[in-house]
Amino acid sequence: MPLKNPSSTGKLISFEGSEGSGKSTQIAHLARHLQEAALDVVTTREPGGTEIGEQVRNIIVHNSKGDEMCAETELLLFAAARAQLVREVIAPALLSGTIVLSDRFLDSSTVYQGVARNLAMGPVHDINQFAIGNVMPDLTIVIDVPTEVSLARIRQRASDLPDRMERENIDFYEKVRKGYLLLAKSMPERLIVIDGTQAEAVIQKQIWQAVQKRLGLGTSGKTSASTASATAAKKPAAVAKTKISASIAKPAAKAKTDATKPGKKSIGRTKSKTLKR
Ligand SMILES: Nc1ncnc2c1ncn2[C@@H]1O[C@H](COP(=O)(O)OP(=O)(O)OP(=O)(O)O)[C@@H](O)[C@H]1O
Ligand SMILES: [Mg+2]
Repeated sequence: MPLKNPSSTGKLISFEGSEGSGKSTQIAHLARHLQEAALDVVTTREPGGTEIGEQVRNIIVHNSKGDEMCAETELLLFAAARAQLVREVIAPALLSGTIVLSDRFLDSSTVYQGVARNLAMGPVHDINQFAIGNVMPDLTIVIDVPTEVSLARIRQRASDLPDRMERENIDFYEKVRKGYLLLAKSMPERLIVIDGTQAEAVIQKQIWQAVQKRLGLGTSGKTSASTASATAAKKPAAVAKTKISASIAKPAAKAKTDATKPGKKSIGRTKSKTLKR
């Protein structure tokens, strides 16, 4: 049975881009804009967003011996977390007319495991599809920054980042950046690229305009999606519950100190601890 059906009036918007490109910053802004337009919003992140997904995240980020995780294992773990997120959080939210903002989604696997880690695109695509079923993003915002900007921002967060590690990672992040730009070029109807070197306020405005234009959200107050959610004023308890567990916007303090966040402490440690998706 498809996870998404004609009654699923919500929208899924995913954010993609290198570490430090500004995804979390802009998700918070967009969530606020949508809420101000009286729309229901859930924000979530990958890998994670569910209890099982967060456990998978821990496996990816913390492997105690610091052994390198092979790309195939990484791909499958990300897919496992994603499969859970889609079924437990995203599909029910879409069904209730909610706008879901996801900090990374399937394109991260395509770019990180497929392009940057060189796994064959066929299996990456098939595994992605198996994980998400028919729940594709309605819109994907790729925040693009040059690799030096990305690394400089990561460096600010982890001041102990050794130069040697930075150099080792430059090639990888170059591939990630190029991978996103290629992907966006090949699917312009779903992906848009925003220049992440612009001022935060400018980016925020551009994203909000794109969301209004492409999805018709927030243009005249309520939209078809939100009208549906308002009509279903009494939401199923399960959805209300997942909203809390899925939210990353609320536990900001946790996110700030969370060593498992991609590109935070991880990049400064051994290769295996770098969350190379
Ligand atoms: N437009 C911008 N100009 C300058 N700095 C920015 C801009 N947007 C975000 N930043 C800063 O860059 C850093 C990284 O931003 P943010 O955490 O939003 O990126 P991210 O893409 O979510 O990173 P990660 O993938 O590691 O979670 C933060 O310190 C943030 O304040
Ligand atoms: Mg982030």
